[in-house]
Amino acid sequence: MVFLGIDTGTGGSRVVAINEAGSIIAQATAEHAPFASPHVGWSEQSPDDWWRAACQAIAKILSSVQADKIAAVSFSGQMHGSVFLDDNDSVIRPALLWNDQRTAPQVEELKATIGNERIIEIVANQAVTGFTLPKLLWLRENEPESWKRVRTVLLPKDYIRLRLTGEKLCDAADASGTLMFDVKNRRWSTEMLEAVYIDPSILPRCLESIDAAGSVSEAGSDATGLKVGTPVFAGAGDNAAGAIGAGLVSPGTLGSTIGTSGVVFVVTDRPTLDPLGRTHSLCHAIPARWHMTGVTLAAGYSLKWFRDVFAPGVSYDELTAEAERVPAGSDGLIWQPYLMGERSPHMDPNATASFTGITASHTRAHFVRAIMEGVAFALRDSIEIFRSLSVPVNDIRLGGGGASSPLWRQIQADVYGEPVSTLVADEGSAYGAALLAGVGVGAWPSVDDAVSETIRISETVAPNPDDSATLEINYQKYKTLYPALSDSAAPER
Ligand code: XUL
Repeated sequence: MVFLGIDTGTGGSRVVAINEAGSIIAQATAEHAPFASPHVGWSEQSPDDWWRAACQAIAKILSSVQADKIAAVSFSGQMHGSVFLDDNDSVIRPALLWNDQRTAPQVEELKATIGNERIIEIVANQAVTGFTLPKLLWLRENEPESWKRVRTVLLPKDYIRLRLTGEKLCDAADASGTLMFDVKNRRWSTEMLEAVYIDPSILPRCLESIDAAGSVSEAGSDATGLKVGTPVFAGAGDNAAGAIGAGLVSPGTLGSTIGTSGVVFVVTDRPTLDPLGRTHSLCHAIPARWHMTGVTLAAGYSLKWFRDVFAPGVSYDELTAEAERVPAGSDGLIWQPYLMGERSPHMDPNATASFTGITASHTRAHFVRAIMEGVAFALRDSIEIFRSLSVPVNDIRLGGGGASSPLWRQIQADVYGEPVSTLVADEGSAYGAALLAGVGVGAWPSVDDAVSETIRISETVAPNPDDSATLEINYQKYKTLYPALSDSAAPER
């Protein structure tokens, strides 16, 4: 039996096929057209382009895997996006994406009319520009003619499901990022929908990630080459599906992923809200499990920015090799990585980055090491919030590009003051979706079983007590920077 995971990312679609041992037997990607930004802060893509890419990637898989061997299909995808469909299920306008910032007025309106604290109580998250509901309100206010035609709103991966199966469905993990979902009770929030006068009939039925969600239709089969009737399972948004792929299933397990942005993701066995809304609280892709997530927007991007501006043409390996010769704490140099504003913990699109503590003896290598330490400080801020809410954190796993750098691994262990592990293979959210498909069709009795049979730890790095103590001094200074530097003089973005 083969299980297929289809991930609708932002840059492209990735499809992986795995066998019952969890080994990848085929994988394929197809790029998307880059997101369009017709106005400052806008970010849009065509859902039909995602479908084109999914079909291409599936066709590549089917050049080496027979369609009748595929026992189940599931999905993951970029979260929070809005696909607006009319009464023929045709796309009305390009989808607004997770990184679209145009909805600041709608977010302010929600806070003013419902109140931020009440919003957190009913949908577990504070109103932020990236989430889905403000996008609906934006369309209603700014493109009323389009809004009148809206009969259905889907999340990105659920549009791919619609094209493949004809079913309009969603899952609790992805729905949690819409600001319209009662995360505690895992159903759409009637209270929120009534408060903003949104007709609940435009939202799809919501399932758990391992639930059956239709089967490949004739039209889906014609477009992809998959067999008519192949069972399809609900799947999850990319963070939750990626967590399954990284084995983050037991309460207390925390993933720290440094990619362009940085994400810390901790699994909980109950819905835990931050009353201040500094981190997100969402359903996990496992029934009766949740997760809290903190997002720092410029993680790997901080290093890229530094390299592009100050060391063009120098490789990351060269830069981090230099940085390894600098002592922990970068001789007092501290980086605050808010190049793109910040999500956790400040939720402040106007936050700015800074280096502080510069002396004449600092070299380029100090700056590189300080950047790597500062990104770990930003991630630790979210871990501190989890700890302050008594959320257990007992097993830290690293992912993303940051996990492949030995220096960044050691820095994370030292800054978190805990051992950190890496995985033998970090295959991402398409792999997590394929595991969900396998569980759905009964190849493993549960997601926990699937993960314990397929995911292996490769290496564990312990904190170095001396370096940890030095970094603790810098972290305490780091925490004073945002309150000192973020005043109304911060430039408008
Ligand atoms: C999560 C988020 C991103 C998107 C990108 O809150 O905004 O990770 O899911 O794919």
